Amino acid sequence: MNKAIALFASARRNGNTGKFIDWIASTLDIQIIDLSEKDISPYDYNHKNINDDFIPVMNQLLSYEKIIFVTPVYWYGPSAQMKTFIDRTSDFLDVEDLKDIGRRLRNKTAYIACTSISDDADSSFINSFKSTFEYLGMDYGGYVHANCENGYNQVKYIEDVDKFINSIQEQKSA
Ligand SMILES: Cc1cc2nc3c(=O)[nH]c(=O)nc-3n(C[C@H](O)[C@H](O)[C@H](O)COP(=O)(O)O)c2cc1C
Repeated sequence: MNKAIALFASARRNGNTGKFIDWIASTLDIQIIDLSEKDISPYDYNHKNINDDFIPVMNQLLSYEKIIFVTPVYWYGPSAQMKTFIDRTSDFLDVEDLKDIGRRLRNKTAYIACTSISDDADSSFINSFKSTFEYLGMDYGGYVHANCENGYNQVKYIEDVDKFINSIQEQKSA
């Protein structure tokens, strides 16, 4: 299976990041999961939230080989919804029944699509994703960024998005 899926998390669905991923996803003809529509609560050491939407969303992601993590840059990091989702992958480390799900992330390819009001995505933002992917055993496929300082202006990103889409299409599944 060579298909990708987008995991989207912004404080608004139709803002800069939403428009950016709608364009990318429609070109790739892939599905977008909007984390704001899901009931996923913050990491809990006691795992009382184990029956929320985290595992179903993760199971959905696991049927794809390429996962695009989509978020605006909020205070040098991802959106709160994206951070919550990433925190929850810790469930795989300490709930015995879930360890196998965590292992199935290995060798999938992870990408980032992001927007901010800076020329480029902050390196600490990209690096925190890269380190997380590495820890989870995922391959890193690259990122695409839109500078929305003067609003969302699609024509400015055509070249970068083309390259990003080509790299996803060319990347063979493991
Ligand atoms: C809470 C918040 C924090 C932000 N922090 C940053 C930041 O650290 N660096 C940056 O370049 N832009 C920052 N921005 C600007 C957003 O990244 C930018 O406007 C982005 O395109 C918003 O995407 P959205 O419409 O999906 O929310 C911030 C915006 C908000 C609302």
